Amino acid sequence: MEQLLRSFFLFLSKNKALTKAAKRYGLRFGAARFVAGETIELAAAVIKELNKKGLDVTIDYLGEFVDNEAEANEMADHSIKAIEAIGRENLQSQLSLKMTSMGLDISNEVVLRNMRRILEAAKTHNVFVTIDMEDYSRCGKTIEIFKSLKKEYDNVGTVIQAYLYRTIKDIDDLNQFHPNLRLVKGAYKESPRVAFPEKKDVDGNFKKIIKMHLVNGNYTAIATHDDAIIEFTKRFVKENNIPNGQFEFQMLYGIRPERQLELVKEGYKMRVYVPYGTDWYGYFMRRLAERPANVAFVLKGMVKK
Ligand code: FDA
Repeated sequence: MEQLLRSFFLFLSKNKALTKAAKRYGLRFGAARFVAGETIELAAAVIKELNKKGLDVTIDYLGEFVDNEAEANEMADHSIKAIEAIGRENLQSQLSLKMTSMGLDISNEVVLRNMRRILEAAKTHNVFVTIDMEDYSRCGKTIEIFKSLKKEYDNVGTVIQAYLYRTIKDIDDLNQFHPNLRLVKGAYKESPRVAFPEKKDVDGNFKKIIKMHLVNGNYTAIATHDDAIIEFTKRFVKENNIPNGQFEFQMLYGIRPERQLELVKEGYKMRVYVPYGTDWYGYFMRRLAERPANVAFVLKGMVKK
């Protein structure tokens, strides 16, 4: 049943008509639990509150799968505005973005032009930028673009997904750049030809890449809500004398907020991924796919209204 629900929500997450409708009607169905608001002003207010509690942030202007250049340029403008807000309001925040919103599906030229504009602005305001990882069909291209940008800029990192078979090789290959990587389980619906179908194999591979990247001496963001992975990381860094300054935990806004604060109290760096904007639909559907309890929450919200 859980697997069926997961497939259903991942299928819905790609529906273009529903994505458009969602933009028109504003944050609905409990999406506000996971999305900080539709404007940068609302997101900045949320970030200030999180920062006050000792939480670091990475902000994301929601958007994906853009297929025309004007829209991709506009998306890049929004990311630049977010960077300027971080600088102006002195927010403890990095920036995250998706390559398909910067023009990945249009051409390398468009995506690179937009990325360079963003990374220049980010350099001015001392902001680190993480390129989120999307579905498998874009993974190779995203990594190649990351590599060329990393040769020009220090303030850029990307994400590696534990569910892919190619991942160990990617971690190995990327080591030459000593990148700051966010490691995750992976959020998209992938074929068993390219990704582990079983959760236990994904978890096993996740632990392997956490170890590899830390032992290679690279900065590692462990992005998960899974206590087993968090505890594994804590033990591993302790046993191997890896300093707290070489890694951080990351979680999504609205998910396990108490656990986020506990980790801060324990002395770990904890970064919260804060999405905002009108294009919340695909992001929200992936959160529902991850956890049936979230679906119950949404249904309750719908009945109450
Ligand atoms: P998983 O969903 O397997 O849950 C494991 C356990 O965690 C549960 O059994 C439960 O114990 C606990 N748990 C989870 N949710 C809970 C909740 N709401 N309340 C209480 N307990 C809960 N993906 C991607 O493909 N590309 C990307 O760029 C990113 N970026 C990204 C950034 C950040 C900061 C995070 C946290 C995640 C991503 N992801 C991502 C998403 C990631 O790939 C993955 O889909 C989700 O994090 C869910 O997997 P978990 O590791 O959290 O554990």
